[in-house]
Amino acid sequence: MSRTDLSQTYQEQGDLFARILAALADSGRSTDRVTVEDLAPVDHFHARGFPATVELAERLPIKAGDRLVDIGCGVGGPARYLAKRFGCHVSGIDITARFVDTGNKLTELVGLTSQVEIELGDGQTLPYADAQFDGAYSQHVTMNVPDRAAFFAEACRVLKPGAFFALTEHGLGPTGDPRYPVPWSDDGRGAYLITPNETRAALEAAGFTDIHIQETGQHYLSGYKAAVAKAEAGTLPAFGVHLLMGDSAVDKIRNAGINIEEGRTCPIQVICRKA
Ligand SMILES: C[S@@+](CC[C@H](N)C(=O)[O-])C[C@H]1O[C@@H](n2cnc3c(N)ncnc32)[C@H](O)[C@@H]1O
Repeated sequence: MSRTDLSQTYQEQGDLFARILAALADSGRSTDRVTVEDLAPVDHFHARGFPATVELAERLPIKAGDRLVDIGCGVGGPARYLAKRFGCHVSGIDITARFVDTGNKLTELVGLTSQVEIELGDGQTLPYADAQFDGAYSQHVTMNVPDRAAFFAEACRVLKPGAFFALTEHGLGPTGDPRYPVPWSDDGRGAYLITPNETRAALEAAGFTDIHIQETGQHYLSGYKAAVAKAEAGTLPAFGVHLLMGDSAVDKIRNAGINIEEGRTCPIQVICRKA
């Protein structure tokens, strides 16, 4: 099975948890009684951040007591939000050790360890038994996944029949050849974009049905442009998702927008279910 090379993308040195707490304090918030909402500007590591998670949640049939899996959960903001909002349990898995470590510390900080746990692992080989989960989701992860067939087959395997799978990603656009750096790759290493049609075919082959694909690029574009404008004006809040992106965060955000405008990428949101 192919391995994902993310050594350049998410591996910046330093104590990420400490940096998040320091930035939280700098932004004037209390670090004594931190809530899921306090962390939301920084721990939803995908285009449009927290509002995009909220909008996705509103489209998903999640009930109290459900067991969900967040594949490529990052530092776990979406998992904590869904657990708190719906009273469900979320198992997060991520391939980047520093995100797993930081994510579990943030979960403890907001008092949700009985509902959310994050472990180190690869979405291409999930460490769960068959038909365990009532739903699965993966936000902005698959751009880094070389073996989409394995990733989708694993997501399908661990779901109960009829359970939902939600996916957001930057697909490959009609003109292709994205500009780098972008939030998921500094220079093209570890990036494996495929077109929306290829994603649909891969999902069908894995056993998913009722596949609804919505293009989200224009929606993302306004968010990227607003962030770049704030950065250029020196008004980007210190407590933001750019904390997870390293020194070239603004270039990454700028290129993510340009890639959409130039048709190099085609971001999508997919909701489907296991047949
Ligand atoms: C842009 S971040 C998104 C994080 C999270 N889904 C969110 O929305 O906040 C991409 C994440 O995917 C993870 N990732 C990439 N390839 C993976 C794989 N094969 N298995 C598990 N996680 C993976 C990275 O480590 C990173 O945390």
